[in-house]
Amino acid sequence: MAVRQVAILGSTGSIGVNTLDVIRAHPDRFKVVALTAAKQIERLAAQCLEFKPLIAVVADAQGASQLSRLLQAQQISTQVLYGPQALVTAVTESGCDTVMAAIVGAAGLVPTLAAAKAGKRVLLANKEALVMSGNLFMQAMKEGGGELLPIDSEHNAIFQCLPDRFTQSPADHLGVEELWLTASGGPFRDLPATSLATITPEQACAHPNWVMGRKISVDSATMMNKGLEVIEAFWLFGLPLDKIKVLIHPQSVVHSMVRYRDGSVLAQMGQPDMRTPIAYGLAWPERIDAGVGQLNLTQLASLSFSEPNLAQFPCLNLAFSAARAGGTAPTILNAANEVAVAAFLDSGLPYLQIAQVVEHALDTIAPIEANSLETILQADAQARAVASSFVHSISR
Ligand SMILES: NC(=O)c1ccc[n+]([C@@H]2O[C@H](COP(=O)([O-])OP(=O)(O)OC[C@H]3O[C@@H](n4cnc5c(N)ncnc54)[C@H](OP(=O)(O)O)[C@@H]3O)[C@@H](O)[C@H]2O)c1
Repeated sequence: MAVRQVAILGSTGSIGVNTLDVIRAHPDRFKVVALTAAKQIERLAAQCLEFKPLIAVVADAQGASQLSRLLQAQQISTQVLYGPQALVTAVTESGCDTVMAAIVGAAGLVPTLAAAKAGKRVLLANKEALVMSGNLFMQAMKEGGGELLPIDSEHNAIFQCLPDRFTQSPADHLGVEELWLTASGGPFRDLPATSLATITPEQACAHPNWVMGRKISVDSATMMNKGLEVIEAFWLFGLPLDKIKVLIHPQSVVHSMVRYRDGSVLAQMGQPDMRTPIAYGLAWPERIDAGVGQLNLTQLASLSFSEPNLAQFPCLNLAFSAARAGGTAPTILNAANEVAVAAFLDSGLPYLQIAQVVEHALDTIAPIEANSLETILQADAQARAVASSFVHSISR
């Protein structure tokens, strides 16, 4: 068995740490060759000490010298680099064959695209990269000739429920009628709209079932996360948008489903623990121990499913609109959402105004064809500028 050489983009985050947890249990199968982070230098240093990668990347020169000092003190010879271009170097120069794309947000786009172009096995957690660059990213995967394995639990579930041949020829739908993405509905699922005005970042980040980074936790509360996932599913699986459905499933046991023409519905179930899809992606097509407890169906009181109320979750509605508009509209949606969520988490933007910021950006900027990386990055920058000035105008 060849040992997989793994680069982890975003190793200090929730997905990154879970990935290292799975790898730690299988030293005969995986070798870590590159780790990257932005600000958590001490955590990255501890990871380098344990896994001894060839390359470690941080955001800036100050972080790089702090990391170098910490590693020299422990006589670790990892090469320390910094800045956005170094993230690409971690993918292209570390000798990796597998890349865990787990940077949060648009910052992950360029290195994830580089992994696609270089023909790596791409384990895609960074959904924002695919939402921003849809067609371009799928084209890069095709040209690179690598394997794309979804890590988002819903898409990983769908991938597991599709026939093997589907992923090789998504145009031929092999009896697949619909994809059903499940959603917990987040912490405010049952709250009346009038109580949402005073929601704090701590409340929004306290997800009932999953432990995740702060940005995706807020996205789960607003259900923008599910909207981004609809767009992600559209690109990954090649089905028309009207065949991709969202179901509220508060227990987070059924991770998603595929409905077939003959009346069959295939579901993937499990504990809400990201190590299951991570282990699946790392070892595919084999299955390895993920360190996840067994699902005990007899201990579950019930499994329930309902349709989402789009009036209660305007961000989900905005994501559907952007998906239908196509072109750079999903890029605009994503960038404005990143600005709004950061303003909510760090600068006191009221929770209910996250959707207003996104709506303003989508109304202000006309989408164009997303046919090059330059066009996508320009749309991202324009949407951030529009969203930021709207945030300032409403917080004055
Ligand atoms: N967490 C989950 O359960 C889950 C499930 C499904 C999908 N996802 C997706 O996976 C991705 C990561 O989520 P997460 O929850 O792991 O996020 P997270 O805990 O916030 O971690 C984000 C990682 O990205 C790094 N990072 C942040 N900004 C960066 C920048 N500008 N340049 C380079 N690196 C940067 C962070 O470094 P520092 O920590 O050093 O700042 C950290 O390593 C997201 O796209 C999310 O939607 C997550």
